[in-house]
Amino acid sequence: MSKLTEKHNYKGILVCVEGIDGSGKSTQLVLLRDWLKSTGHDVIFTEWNSSELISQTTKLAKKKNMLSPRTFSLLHAVDFADRLKQVIDPALKAGFIVLADRYAYTAFARDVARGVDPQWVRNVYNFAIKPDLAIYFDIEPKDAMERICSNRAPKFYEAGMDLKLSNDPYESYLIFQGRVIKEYQKMVNEFGLIKLDAMDSIHSKQVRIREMLKEVLNNRGVNI
Ligand SMILES: Nc1ncnc2c1ncn2[C@@H]1O[C@H](COP(=O)(O)OP(=O)(O)OP(=O)(O)O)[C@@H](O)[C@H]1O
Ligand SMILES: [Mg+2]
Repeated sequence: MSKLTEKHNYKGILVCVEGIDGSGKSTQLVLLRDWLKSTGHDVIFTEWNSSELISQTTKLAKKKNMLSPRTFSLLHAVDFADRLKQVIDPALKAGFIVLADRYAYTAFARDVARGVDPQWVRNVYNFAIKPDLAIYFDIEPKDAMERICSNRAPKFYEAGMDLKLSNDPYESYLIFQGRVIKEYQKMVNEFGLIKLDAMDSIHSKQVRIREMLKEVLNNRGVNI
């Protein structure tokens, strides 16, 4: 049984944002953080692939394109396990609001898009805590590409060039990110991710997210 389907008993609140690169995750989380801080809440921010212990190794291995999709997946899982233990878990115990820029769902989307077995990767992350609010920004690959590639070509892994789908990074990007999005869309039902249209304005999305978080807080007896 995965913890990702069970309600947690921590004092704190866990919020995560998901979606492909350029879907607007960080933009929304930064606005949310500033608002929560201004209302006097203890907030902590944690990003995918940022464990001090592991992220350097992943970076090195990526540079040399040394990893198979499954090894890639395991390294990210180690990074996640380390952050869960060092950052997320203690903060939730202390009653903080934890804002996670990408969560285990990122692995389920990207690794499966790379051919990893969906059940296998879900089992790897079966220790992940279920977020109180998990938001998914839905976007077309071409719209995301327009946002992030207006002044640069897609990066090697961003475009899924390791999968040899096409020699053209732009074309590869569209195919690969299309696959990632398909996996995210499945998770709306599977894990109750809340889908927002990434093309809506920054402001209207922020208003929606604040409303949803207010409801979570009110249900815990916290007024905001
Ligand atoms: N609703 C929106 N409408 C138009 N542009 C937006 C919107 N939200 C974000 N952007 C712009 O899109 C770009 C990507 O946004 P952002 O960095 O928040 O995405 P991200 O999902 O965090 O991407 P990454 O996964 O690469 O970190 C930024 O230039 C941002 O200003
Ligand atoms: Mg970001």
